[in-house]
Amino acid sequence: MPPKLNNFIDVPKIIKEDRVKEFFPGLLPDVDEIRKIEFPSLVSSGRTYMDSGATAQPLASAIRDITNYRLTYPRGSNHSENSEEAKRASQEYNRVKDKLTYFFNASDYMVGFTGGTTDTSNWISTRFDFKKGDLIVLTEMEHNSQILTPLNFAKMMGVDIEIVPITKPEGRLDLDYLRKIMKTRKKGKILFNLIHVSNVTGVINPISEIRDIVGDRGFIYLDMAQSAGHMKIDLNALDVDFASLSAHKMYGPFGLGAIFINKKSERYLGNHYSGGSTVKLVSKNLVTYEDSVARFEPGTQAIEPAIEFGFVIDRLYELGMDNIHMHDIELGKYMLHEMKKIPNLNLYGPKTFEDRLSILTFNLGSFLRKNYKEVACRLDAKGISVRDGCFCAHWYIALMMGLNAPIQDVRNMLLKLGISQDFLGLPKQLVRLPGAVRVTPSFYNTIEEAYTTIQSIAEVAEDIL
Ligand SMILES: Cc1ncc(COP(=O)(O)O)c(C=O)c1O
Repeated sequence: MPPKLNNFIDVPKIIKEDRVKEFFPGLLPDVDEIRKIEFPSLVSSGRTYMDSGATAQPLASAIRDITNYRLTYPRGSNHSENSEEAKRASQEYNRVKDKLTYFFNASDYMVGFTGGTTDTSNWISTRFDFKKGDLIVLTEMEHNSQILTPLNFAKMMGVDIEIVPITKPEGRLDLDYLRKIMKTRKKGKILFNLIHVSNVTGVINPISEIRDIVGDRGFIYLDMAQSAGHMKIDLNALDVDFASLSAHKMYGPFGLGAIFINKKSERYLGNHYSGGSTVKLVSKNLVTYEDSVARFEPGTQAIEPAIEFGFVIDRLYELGMDNIHMHDIELGKYMLHEMKKIPNLNLYGPKTFEDRLSILTFNLGSFLRKNYKEVACRLDAKGISVRDGCFCAHWYIALMMGLNAPIQDVRNMLLKLGISQDFLGLPKQLVRLPGAVRVTPSFYNTIEEAYTTIQSIAEVAEDIL
């Protein structure tokens, strides 16, 4: 039976009557042109890509520019300083750092390249200048890449762990708890691992307020994986100590990330890896490291991906992050508004658009039905790409779905012991991982695609509930 669509906004009619600007003023006016030039595979494939939270589609102009660069110039290594090729490689590589500094207003920071946010998070967690009795603060909202290594490493180092809880039902951080930690913890260093924007609910954490709470005693490491490609960020104003991003979530290449190291905090960070390029001199009993950010970048760098990322940054600058942000928000607002009309759709996180981005996670019916995979497959069959599962945020998604930590521990223990639900006579819902479906549009999505996605979710809901 077709879904009852009567109460949905009639987007096709709005488009036909040429009134899109009136109803959705935040949309980029030239999105069709941008798609044709920058995202031709989206146009030719006919797919509706709503999984930009996992990875964003790459900008075609950057692919063309790097291909052209590679075909024009002989390759050089950054180690061989005095050949024309080496000089070009180093110059171009460093120029991208300058572009990132400008783009993120990050003159207070050193910029280096990494393998991505996970790589950077592992670096910070294992090479921060921890001493026994120091504290690492996590939040229940973090991505696993910010949780797992600190948990393992803290034990080895004798570092304490505190976890800032979330408040329900919105899923924001309980900042009073953080205030309490800062009040009671009188001694030792404190490193706060903090997600900028949640990859589950799109909540934007109030970094300036958190900086005030944490004060000069605390170090903040900001995971910008979800925010950097969707909103304008002023790192000097945020005044964090370390920050990271992944290029592939910013319409750039896979396998590359950036780290921002506040110059005032640099001395608290050791090398992630060591090797060539990081040192001035190695003698039998002494090593003198480079003073510049080169000391954090051992070996032959990902020079070409970095240069490609530079082309991406140029293009994003031209498009304007404020415009990208507004387009994103306009699509997200519309979709959230319409999702609320779908019977039995349970959306996690804030129901309004203050301080959040367009990351929409939901279940059809109760999460106990475990139909999230089926929903994703059915949407895929309709040409719509979404993500399903736990989004590498097991703590947060479980809490948002109403499973508290002890229940999760018991479930995990059963899983670890290999005790199947059949053996215990438990309904399988109790043992298997719960999950949800996530829709993440970006600036290359059209309002028509957002409409199709909503209609398709409504149809799937009608079919399977
Ligand atoms: C908030 C957040 N942090 C970290 C990561 C890890 O990023 P990467 O896989 O690029 O290392 C992700 C990826 O989904 C994320 O959403």
